[in-house]
Amino acid sequence: MEKIKDLIRNIPDFPKEGILFRDITTLLKDSDGFKKVIDILAERYKDKKIDYILGAESRGFIFGAPLAYAIGAGFIPVRKPGKLPYNIVQAFYELEYGTDSLEMHTDAIEKGKKVLIIDDLLATGGTAKAIIELVEKLEGDIEEIAFIIELEGLNGRKKLKDYDIYSMIKY
Ligand code: PRP
Ligand code: ADE
Repeated sequence: MEKIKDLIRNIPDFPKEGILFRDITTLLKDSDGFKKVIDILAERYKDKKIDYILGAESRGFIFGAPLAYAIGAGFIPVRKPGKLPYNIVQAFYELEYGTDSLEMHTDAIEKGKKVLIIDDLLATGGTAKAIIELVEKLEGDIEEIAFIIELEGLNGRKKLKDYDIYSMIKY
């Protein structure tokens, strides 16, 4: 795990002053590091009978799609506003540095299907909470919410206290 942590670059004051940005591009370009991350997640979830992996645009896509492939699940993109062409459900949230909304197709999850939510990073938990809201609107069953990175100081886990949370690397 320390090896994976070493591949994450820290950029002070991005995108604004006071934010220490955890940059995963340096992890992604390392073929062994990226593979290791997906392998660890695949090992954890391969026997959990997960129907769908939900990944949030955009960094959630990077980890969600290869994980879905690896465990034989479908992949559902949760997108930023105005990108999806069919009927949508929508949820609003606050970021560590702004506000936004997320959307998913109304027929993305059938009632009772088992889903795993994945994102690169847990900060305030606002993004994950919005995704939970979308899944619950469609009556999906959340197996767990997985993150590569957790920023513990921002207490995102508290906001998600009713759900099982997994994070690989903590700061
Ligand atoms: C980042 C990150 C998480 C979210 C975490 O995404 O990828 O999705 O912020 O913050 P939170 O726990 O406070 O909600 P961002 O919205 O910056 O979009 P990106 O993936 O397109 O870079
Ligand atoms: N998303 C929200 N906060 C972040 C941070 N500190 N580094 C990288 N991505 C983030």
